[in-house]
Amino acid sequence: MGTPAFNLHAFRAAQRAAPLSDFARELHAGLSLETRSISPKFFYDVEGSALFDRICELPEYYPTRTELRILTESAEEIAGQIGPDAEIIEFGAGSLTKVRLLLDALEAPRRYVPIDISGEHLEAAAARLRTDYPRLAVQPVVADYTMPLVLPPAREKGAGQRVGFFPGSTLGNFTPNEALAFLQLAQRLLRGGGLLIGVDLVKDPALLHAAYNDAEGVTAAFNLNLLRRANRELGCDFDLDGFTHAAFYNSPQRRIEMHLVSRRPQTVTLDGQAFDFAEGETLHTENSHKFTIDSLRSLALKAGFRPGAVWTDPDRLFSVHWLQAPAAQ
Ligand code: AVI
Repeated sequence: MGTPAFNLHAFRAAQRAAPLSDFARELHAGLSLETRSISPKFFYDVEGSALFDRICELPEYYPTRTELRILTESAEEIAGQIGPDAEIIEFGAGSLTKVRLLLDALEAPRRYVPIDISGEHLEAAAARLRTDYPRLAVQPVVADYTMPLVLPPAREKGAGQRVGFFPGSTLGNFTPNEALAFLQLAQRLLRGGGLLIGVDLVKDPALLHAAYNDAEGVTAAFNLNLLRRANRELGCDFDLDGFTHAAFYNSPQRRIEMHLVSRRPQTVTLDGQAFDFAEGETLHTENSHKFTIDSLRSLALKAGFRPGAVWTDPDRLFSVHWLQAPAAQ
């Protein structure tokens, strides 16, 4: 039998009948709000992830190198806290570079389970890790770690502590309610073990401002890529020159806010629906909450953890916390 002829009419009908993607649905909902907003999780398509990797290398963006420094300098103490034969569950594993610092310091880690919504890079990164750590069981899981999940069964008995690893201050991109819900979920998953979490600290707003308004314009390109992605994937008609990147510190809320600001009155369309933007009107694309050591510890306590040791850098830019998850009664 030959290849069936392509039927454009049937294809379009199927597209109309297909459920809207999460991105389409959430962008539609976000554009319909009085104060327009969209979740920052949509930044991370292939282009967005590559731009984020570049952000992490920027001189102004201190969080990545500062956290790496803390993990390097405190590796022995952290390993002492975790103990031998541990299993590490990483929430949102990207390049898997940070966990190597941990694995190198730990005594005979048994199992590593990176959980990420995108399976694309996960398997390749896991394969590299298997080569470098032949005694470690590497079991990647493609899932949304903000939802309850069941871990793959351990292949061997007698493992040590179960340890969650959540570096990078990703917690700061959640709303306060989402952050609490995530910590509660993690606390249940990690009972009898603990969570090692990195969060960015409140500091001089000038330093924060520079970190999100870099001279090279990489953060601006990262922010604007959201519109480029909407044009590419959803057939929107955002004029990229019609919007500009804005990032500022909202001090009462202790967060950096990122917005895309309309430079002029304009109309954009999504799935046949028109959305008008006035000059200066914004699409709020990200919050990056900053913590004090105490504010993170009280949030963790509220979620059922017992806050333990904290490691920081000499300038107190960033912090890494050990949160004990009590065993079930
Ligand atoms: C991933 N996340 C912790 C980054 C942050 O700093 O909030 C994302 C980012 N946005 C702009 N620059 C970096």
